Amino acid sequence: MTLILVMDNDCAIGRGGGLLFRLPADMKNFRETTLGSTVIMGRKTYESFPMRPLPERENLVLSRSGKELEGARVFADIDSLMEYVGKVKGKVFVIGGGEVYRQLAPYCDEALITRLYESMGGDTFFEDIGRAPEWELAEASHVIETNCKKIRLFRYVRKNDKKDGV
Ligand SMILES: NC(=O)c1ccc[n+]([C@@H]2O[C@H](COP(=O)([O-])OP(=O)(O)OC[C@H]3O[C@@H](n4cnc5c(N)ncnc54)[C@H](OP(=O)(O)O)[C@@H]3O)[C@@H](O)[C@H]2O)c1
Repeated sequence: MTLILVMDNDCAIGRGGGLLFRLPADMKNFRETTLGSTVIMGRKTYESFPMRPLPERENLVLSRSGKELEGARVFADIDSLMEYVGKVKGKVFVIGGGEVYRQLAPYCDEALITRLYESMGGDTFFEDIGRAPEWELAEASHVIETNCKKIRLFRYVRKNDKKDGV
């Protein structure tokens, strides 16, 4: 699975239940990357979208309430979600928010991180994968200007620490 997110200088990803910034280049990248795939999100992120479910993607939502959500398949726990994901053909993206990134990051072997080089004052955060020993940088874009802000797109992959013969 692939984790995809955008964070600011302080690793903030959201505020007041919504995004911290409007970054058209990042939104375009998110849409083009995830179209036709399966996306996993928490109930709060699902409810934060003005248009839901996300079109042209299979929407999987984690929610303990068991409440049905329009256009989405709802899972009450990670075990049942992962059982379903195991049968999915094609790419699966974890698209937020903070609670869901934290719980599903260990299942991901790739992370697509957009970094915004400003501090926006968020209330929801995620770890800086660039500093975590289990991840390594695979690709980095040049600086892109969007909506008067500077961003870069990074791709990290999980390190394969398995030793021969072990
Ligand atoms: N910057 C980015 O790339 C990005 C991407 C997405 C979201 N965001 C932001 O992140 C914020 C939302 O994040 P959040 O951490 O508050 O919420 P969230 O992760 O979107 O959703 C949390 C909800 O998911 C459900 N859930 C979580 N773990 C579960 C589990 N193990 N089993 C069953 N259900 C589970 C629960 O729903 P119930 O309460 O229904 O049980 C929980 O309240 C917003 O500000 C949003 O804009 C940022």
